[in-house]
Amino acid sequence: MASSLLSGIYHLYDLFQAIRGANPTFLTPHHVPGTDLTGKWIIISGSNSGIGLEAAKSFATWGANLILACREPASWELHPTAAVQECKFLADAHGHSRSVIEWWEIDMADLASVEAFCRRWLDSGRGLDVLCNNAGVVSTSKTHMTRDGFQLVHQVNFLSHVLLTLRLLPSLARSPEPRVICTTSCVHHLGELDLEHFNCGPDMHGGDYGNNKLYFQMWVSELQSRFLKHREYMHITINGVHPGYVVTGIWKSVNEAEDTSGRWLKTLSRYIGITAQQGSLAITHAATSPELGPDPKTQSVGVVGGGGGGRYINRIWEAAPKFYCHDLQARKRLWVKLDEELQLREKGLLTILGL
Ligand SMILES: NC(=O)c1ccc[n+]([C@@H]2O[C@H](COP(=O)([O-])OP(=O)(O)OC[C@H]3O[C@@H](n4cnc5c(N)ncnc54)[C@H](OP(=O)(O)O)[C@@H]3O)[C@@H](O)[C@H]2O)c1
Repeated sequence: MASSLLSGIYHLYDLFQAIRGANPTFLTPHHVPGTDLTGKWIIISGSNSGIGLEAAKSFATWGANLILACREPASWELHPTAAVQECKFLADAHGHSRSVIEWWEIDMADLASVEAFCRRWLDSGRGLDVLCNNAGVVSTSKTHMTRDGFQLVHQVNFLSHVLLTLRLLPSLARSPEPRVICTTSCVHHLGELDLEHFNCGPDMHGGDYGNNKLYFQMWVSELQSRFLKHREYMHITINGVHPGYVVTGIWKSVNEAEDTSGRWLKTLSRYIGITAQQGSLAITHAATSPELGPDPKTQSVGVVGGGGGGRYINRIWEAAPKFYCHDLQARKRLWVKLDEELQLREKGLLTILGL
């Protein structure tokens, strides 16, 4: 009786935290002024549409060199070539005609494609200043598998970003104050930690989208704590951001037959959702604001007021992540599970970070 009451209270608390993600406050340049990014290199996945594209446009305006990491999209989506043109136009208009802005192919549903993207970047020999792990899909089906044998949402939203980040760490580490921004979601509060069904499937507790956003946010906390233990990586800052409740193309793919809550959220988004430009400010803020930058006390770089990483940011405001993100045992189990699925040790990706 007492335990079910307690669990009911926890569920209500999680629901309350998830609902806070719908805060539609209109943000202005006063909230996210940006900064001069001339000469900086930024990679952003899923940037031919939605909040990724809008973030790329802001970065272009502020002078960054950009690699839009996109796939060949379906015919109805904006082609990455057009996204590059939009960004170049804005860069030119703001006096940054020398910025390099390109799109490089990556299919997050194909690990070989992620590996090829990383090889291409590492071969360039450049240091990476900001990595935005943004591409994502919503629930299609708990049993929709990729050619790698992973459930689609699990791979696109989570596994591929883990691989991308770990592969690019040497390049991030070469920059003076690198940042990694992961687009998680307030829905991570509704996710369940079901490592027995890590790769989803019909018996999984919770939904594929919420669970994987929870794993992503937990991984953000774990990775930052590991960065801090290693001189090579302690200057890297990683945070998870929720962009808001945003009207974008992502809602098109909700499988209305299988996903009742998704269907409701999709309908509601038309009435209370914010624009993609407003949603993108979560990314650009996390990439540029001093307070979401490195903490000079623990990271030996950055400015006073920098709060360091491992945090969950609801749009531009720090918020409490789900309690699992503070549970060291749970985070460790997730870390081990990732090694099992992606063979990270065999790939040499845990040599410094450890298992
Ligand atoms: N919209 C919201 O309310 C909301 C709330 C919380 C979190 N988020 C998160 O925000 C992120 C961006 O979503 P959005 O709302 O901006 O939706 P969106 O417009 O659909 O953007 C998603 C992006 O991910 C890309 N993508 C999907 N599958 C891919 C794959 N296999 N390989 C490479 N790229 C792929 C899409 O490319 P294509 O054009 O080729 O499909 C698109 O560029 C996602 O991670 C999402 O989970 C959104």
